[in-house]
Parts: sequence; C-alpha cells; structure tokens
Amino acid sequence: MQPNQISQTAAFIAIKFYGLTQTDPYRSWFDEKIIRFYDRLVQFLPKPLHLYHSVLKKKWIRRFFLFSEELLLPGDLMHIIMRKYFIGQQVDQLLDSGYEQLLVLGAGFDHLAMLHSQKGTCSFEIDAPGMASLKEQFIKQHGMQNANLHLLSHHVSEGNNKINLELIPPLDPNRKTVIVAEGFFDYLYPEQSKKILEDLVTFFNNKATLISTIFALDELSVVRRSVFKAGVTMVGEKIRLGWSKEEYESTLDSVGFGNTRMLNASTMRQKLLVPADISMPVLDGFYLVSSKV
Ligand SMILES: C[S@@+](CC[C@H](N)C(=O)[O-])C[C@H]1O[C@@H](n2cnc3c(N)ncnc32)[C@H](O)[C@@H]1O
Repeated sequence: MQPNQISQTAAFIAIKFYGLTQTDPYRSWFDEKIIRFYDRLVQFLPKPLHLYHSVLKKKWIRRFFLFSEELLLPGDLMHIIMRKYFIGQQVDQLLDSGYEQLLVLGAGFDHLAMLHSQKGTCSFEIDAPGMASLKEQFIKQHGMQNANLHLLSHHVSEGNNKINLELIPPLDPNRKTVIVAEGFFDYLYPEQSKKILEDLVTFFNNKATLISTIFALDELSVVRRSVFKAGVTMVGEKIRLGWSKEEYESTLDSVGFGNTRMLNASTMRQKLLVPADISMPVLDGFYLVSSKV
C-alpha cells in the first residue's frame, strides 16, 4: 500500500456495511448516527465507488451481490457486520467502565473516532497520509470536526515502522486507553506488526486494552484462502501478516500484552446471527482479539 493510495479494502468495508444495513435486522443493531455516517461516506467516496450509494438501494442488486459474494467467499459479508458490531460493543463497555481515550490504528473509513469524540472522549485516528487527508475532508464537509477528534497520518513502511506516539501531544500515556486495530495488522509484515505492538506496550503504562482483528488464513481451505488473497491483490493491496491464531497470541504475549481473549467466527455467529434466525456463515479464520497492557 502506497502512502497516498486510497485504500480500496477500507472503502469496500464501508460499502458492504452500507449495503447490508439498508435492511433490518442488520440496521437495527447499530445506532442511527452510525447508519447516517456510512450513508454520507459512501456518497463521498471517489469515483466510481460512490455509485454504490444509489446502486445498493435496489433490493435486487443487493440480492445479486449477496449471492455472488457468498459464492466466492462464504461469510465475508457477515464478518463485516460482526466486526463492526462486536468491536463497537467492546469499545462502549470499556469507555463506560472508565477508559478515557480512544486510539484507532489503520482507521480507514471507520466511524468509531467520530462517534466517541462527539460523545466527549478524546479520540485519535492514524492512517496513511492519503487516507487521513481524505477522511479529514469528509469529516469537515459534514461538520463532524470537534476538539476531541484528532486525525493523524503515518505510513508504516520499511525504515518507518515506528508510529511516534510521543509526538502526538494530546495523546496521554497515563490515561486509560482503548486501542483499536481493526483489519490493520494483516496488511503489515510480521516484524512491523510486532514493532508496533512493542511500542504500544512501552508507551502506555499498564493502562491500555487493545481490540484487534486477525485473519488466520491457515484455517481457510486452499481455494478460499486464494480467493481471499486475490480479492485484496485485485484492489492493489496485499495481505502480509500470515500469522495463525497461535502465532498472534504468542506475539502478543512476548511483547507484554496479557489477558488475551479471542472471539471466533462461530461464537460471533451464535451470539448475533443465530438468535436473529440468520443462517448465513461468518468467515472462518476471522478473530476478534482483546488484550491488555
Ligand atoms: C482493511 S482497511 C481497514 C480499515 C478500518 N480499520 C476498518 O476496519 O473499517 C486497512 C487500513 O489500514 C491502512 N493501512 C494499510 N497499510 C498501511 C500502512 N503501511 N501504513 C498505514 N496505514 C496502512 C489502510 O490505509 C486502511 O485504511
């Protein structure tokens, strides 16, 4: 991923979320503010991506996309809903229980920092320069900027693996912080991810919880793994991490994160989809991971 590139994977996460939340029950699981955020965001996306805004209003087109997506990579669409729902729940719980700051790494077009900054939590987003400036344009265009929201840019690359957290003045290492890395580490090399994890542990003095996701591709069949990787490559990005669930857990442990809990695709499905009578699968190998320093 180039520093000024617009992340298509980030754009398609927003588009898929927007498409799915056109109808209940998915729509009913999210605050109306979140629904409005993605509605505006998809309209704002650069050409031709913004066309999805009107196209996905049509039921037959949504059905067609759902059918073709499920054929290619079963569970991919539902995993988008799962990650947005369960990460949102965990962030809410932590902030309600006394956490004071939010730091979102590889934020893409995500809504979390916007939402919580407006509720009064000091919130930081970091992404590559092209993405950070586009997000800033969007936030300004819709009057969502506020004193608690800080949009920052950093491109993790060879020789530039360190995110200089100490150079972000309002980010306070002594405040209890929720760190979100949703679909971020998968796009970095293992040594880059490890370095960032180490820096987070060093910077935050025993006062942070990291909520992250990984795709343990070894749990997918060869065919599905190839479809997954090809989908990312087709839009000009690359999956680089390649850690299994065990490798991620042991890396977290080795750098000083503890109390690691992993929510797998099947548990998420049981918690949210089964009670709503939805029989669709959630992508195997997808994990939501929470750990503390
Ligand atoms: C799959 S998207 C996830 C976006 C968002 N977290 C979400 O889940 O909706 C990955 C994000 O990581 C960012 N990213 C990827 N490689 C990066 C790098 N080397 N340095 C900084 N950001 C990077 C991309 O710009 C993109 O926004």
